[in-house]
Amino acid sequence: MALRTLDSLGPLAGTRVIVRCDFNVPLKDGVITDDGRVRAALPTLTRLLEQGARVVACSHLGRPDGAPNPKYSLAPVAERLSELLGKPVAFATDTVGPSAQETVAALGDGEIAVVENLRFNPGETAKDEGERQAFARELAGLGDVLVSDGFGVVHRKQASVYDLAELVPSAAGLLIEKEVDVLDRLTENPERPYAVVLGGSKVSDKLGVIEHLLPRVDKLLVGGGMMFTFLAADGHKIGKSLLEADQIETVKGYVREAAERGVQLVLPVDAVMAASFSEDAEHVVAGAAQLEDTEFGADGIGLDIGPRTAETFADVIRSSRTVFWNGPMGVFELAPFAAGTKAVAQALTDVDGLSVVGGGDSAAAVRQLGFADDEFGHISTGGGASLEFLEGKKLPGLEVLGWSQ
Ligand code: 3PG
Repeated sequence: MALRTLDSLGPLAGTRVIVRCDFNVPLKDGVITDDGRVRAALPTLTRLLEQGARVVACSHLGRPDGAPNPKYSLAPVAERLSELLGKPVAFATDTVGPSAQETVAALGDGEIAVVENLRFNPGETAKDEGERQAFARELAGLGDVLVSDGFGVVHRKQASVYDLAELVPSAAGLLIEKEVDVLDRLTENPERPYAVVLGGSKVSDKLGVIEHLLPRVDKLLVGGGMMFTFLAADGHKIGKSLLEADQIETVKGYVREAAERGVQLVLPVDAVMAASFSEDAEHVVAGAAQLEDTEFGADGIGLDIGPRTAETFADVIRSSRTVFWNGPMGVFELAPFAAGTKAVAQALTDVDGLSVVGGGDSAAAVRQLGFADDEFGHISTGGGASLEFLEGKKLPGLEVLGWSQ
């Protein structure tokens, strides 16, 4: 079944529209370091404001455990949103309390407010359905309809994502519509060859997605911290590189399954080994079978894929027609260990077909490394959500909007 879209809500001039966004942006000392998720909300917000709706934008930020915490305030987001929209954005210092009610009551047609972090209220993330629904009823007091547009959070059964959508007329915003459209193209008849590039630190975070994708992809490329568990499973010594010893048997199973299915599993043939986990650490390139043969011996830590691996990955990516990439290839935040991630990002920009960057970390990585969003087919705003979508899981925040895979 298809998502209910904005048009299903009818004309919205003068209507109070709650827009559930995912403004969960990285902050450093109160400053937003990647505003991608704020920019991703603009098409829906602009469309509603142009229609003369009274927009009440809400979101979570971080995991403040159900209590107000200034560290997780949405105030910097409201400010950034105002800059991007080029118009005032009112800010309520609570989510459903007196400040929110006054702020919303003061909105005129075509005006917008942001209310404070949803997760400052225990009801937002409560396991207990009654508690969640009670908070959803309070939220419903702020608006007449809900436009759900926080794709990054659709895998969470939370009050603003799920229960509120059952209480008031609701529809998907333009971001959710676009995300679902692109990710659906990855699951339904992707153009081939179809390659998936996985990185990031933990294999255990990617189990579901590897299992679901092995029968569907032509090539699976593994880099990032998780590659060392694959290399260890292949019998290599990996020094002090990240290892999930309890996943070795699972990984061996994936290697066997890939071979049986004719999936090309591309593992690193070299890595950048460092003396320590720091920006100025001494480092050298070592072959996958010689990771402990460097001057650092068994104390070396692998912090990036090596140049030969990067070149192979780039070739495989460029020759594919559909590519999904989740997870950095190395510790890209430290300049000496960013080359692998940069090479993969660069190759994705050259894909003649559909290239999708999924996940908060990968999205932050490409922007930090100087790439522009429009160099890729699509940059998903969802980390966990995009992986769970590709795993074929039921996502409560989409199902409640009429979607079924
Ligand atoms: C994300 O960053 O993936 C989303 O905003 C969801 O955040 P959460 O994992 O804290 O629910």
